[in-house]
Amino acid sequence: MSAKVLFVCLGNICRSPIAEGIFVHLVRERGLDGRYLADSAGTGNWHSGEPPDPRAIAVAKKRGVSLPSLCRQVDKSDFQEFDLILAMDRNNQKDLNAICPAHLRSKIRLIRDFDTARERGTDVPDPYYGGPYEFDTVYEMLNRCCADLLEKMESGSLVTGDATAP
Ligand code: 4NP
Repeated sequence: MSAKVLFVCLGNICRSPIAEGIFVHLVRERGLDGRYLADSAGTGNWHSGEPPDPRAIAVAKKRGVSLPSLCRQVDKSDFQEFDLILAMDRNNQKDLNAICPAHLRSKIRLIRDFDTARERGTDVPDPYYGGPYEFDTVYEMLNRCCADLLEKMESGSLVTGDATAP
């Protein structure tokens, strides 16, 4: 059975599709196809059905990573469907917690909990109003987080759905 991981941000056109693309890329690179299923969603619905922001597509393409998924809003069924839900920032986490049934809340984690550098606090900053530098910074941050997340899931040190810190 594959582990299902959902990446969540506000708009689902910048941070979470980049995280999804990186995670899928790392899974493929490590020969782990079939072991993981990844998706992304937004707490907001302004961009539903749209592809990711062109700047997100560009920053990923530079590293050979494609971002094929289309924007969608988080659905209540996601809390049942996914084993692990990674919020990009504390606002996303708060919004998710507000609509998640209490017994499933331990599935929701901050992705920066998996940042091995952690030099910029606990949020992935929203690059939407930034430029290429902000998108590059976010990409590198998410690359560290996704690599650590996958390593912890593979080693069994992260029990999905468990609220204990990594
Ligand atoms: P994201 O960035 O949450 O990283 O996808 C945003 C994209 C769009 C908007 C906000 C944040 N928006 O307000 O349209």
